[in-house]
Amino acid sequence: MDPIEIRMQVPEPRAPQNLSKPNLITGEDIADQQLRPSRFEDYPGQDTVKSNLQVYVAAALKRSSPLDHSLFHGPPGLGKTTLAKIVALEMQAPFYQTSGPSIDKPGDLAGILAGIEPGGVLFIDEIHRLTITVEEILYSAMEDFCVDILVGQGPTARTVRMPINPFTLIGATTRMASLSAPLLSRFGIQEHLEFYEADALAQILQRSARLWGVELAEDGAMELAKRSRGTPRIANRLLRRVRDFADFHGQRTLHCDIVDLTLNRLHIDRGGLDKMDRRILRMIRDRYKGGPVGIEALAATIGEERSTIEDVYEPFLMHQGYMRRGPRGRELSAEAVHHLELVGDMP
Ligand SMILES: Nc1ncnc2c1ncn2[C@@H]1O[C@H](COP(=O)(O)OP(=O)(O)O)[C@@H](O)[C@H]1O
Ligand SMILES: [Mg+2]
Repeated sequence: MDPIEIRMQVPEPRAPQNLSKPNLITGEDIADQQLRPSRFEDYPGQDTVKSNLQVYVAAALKRSSPLDHSLFHGPPGLGKTTLAKIVALEMQAPFYQTSGPSIDKPGDLAGILAGIEPGGVLFIDEIHRLTITVEEILYSAMEDFCVDILVGQGPTARTVRMPINPFTLIGATTRMASLSAPLLSRFGIQEHLEFYEADALAQILQRSARLWGVELAEDGAMELAKRSRGTPRIANRLLRRVRDFADFHGQRTLHCDIVDLTLNRLHIDRGGLDKMDRRILRMIRDRYKGGPVGIEALAATIGEERSTIEDVYEPFLMHQGYMRRGPRGRELSAEAVHHLELVGDMP
């Protein structure tokens, strides 16, 4: 690997709390933070992933060594960040958080790595968005717990190998396919997060309702769970809207009827599809005669980023069997045509 040029002698360790760049924090973000479970027990669903991780964590603790580097992949909102925090807590390890797009230079990452306490967990969200020069810093860090830095310039320049504390890297990504082979091969643990079953989502919703002091009836929880695209983040967000409508209508308990009223107002249909989902399906049906259509053409006619369609919309539509991805592009299924007929003229 080519050493990376860094002018400073030794990178400044950074304060762990401040690794992520400041963002605009909204009330919903704070509500989201309050809901984040911090233990495996409060994290329903993802049973296989969870039980595997529990074994790996217990084994690492027994050996008093850091957990292997871990990669969590899957669509947004399924609990990757939450899981990373739970793992750190179970390992009783300090947690450092950053993201691929927020690391500009190799030196930034070297600085972060140099500041990690022994056994710490470094979480890099959207790890597929690291630039290649930044990514290369990770290779020796993950494998040998050291970073190669170039000190000085011109003829006097030399490489210095700087040891860092043993640590665990946890990466999260919505697009496994964009990860380079050298990076991928350095993750000893790789877990895919799946869309949630309605039962698990209903449990998550009941816990959120409890934390907010909201009375959520069983039928209300189930209806909401079925229409939340198998995604906890969406389920929690919709629960807030249902609470608004319930308050507005003076209803104390959230039953199926108020859930149905709210979701209809938000144009979320019985299958949990939203406006954009239906727009994609209708576009393939009407403009492309059911497909196949290439993703670029589809994105252009819809006027949405290709990556948003690929990362956010498609996975759920394919999971529900409404869309298939063949060698010549995206195709609609008979179920999708049937579904669109059922929802009629809902926008
Ligand atoms: N299994 C779960 N149990 C309870 N809440 C969950 C679970 N998975 C996700 N959540 C909640 O959903 C929200 C999104 O989760 P997050 O970990 O940020 O998803 P990701 O990082 O995959 O986009 C968080 O507020 C979290 O509290
Ligand atoms: Mg996340």
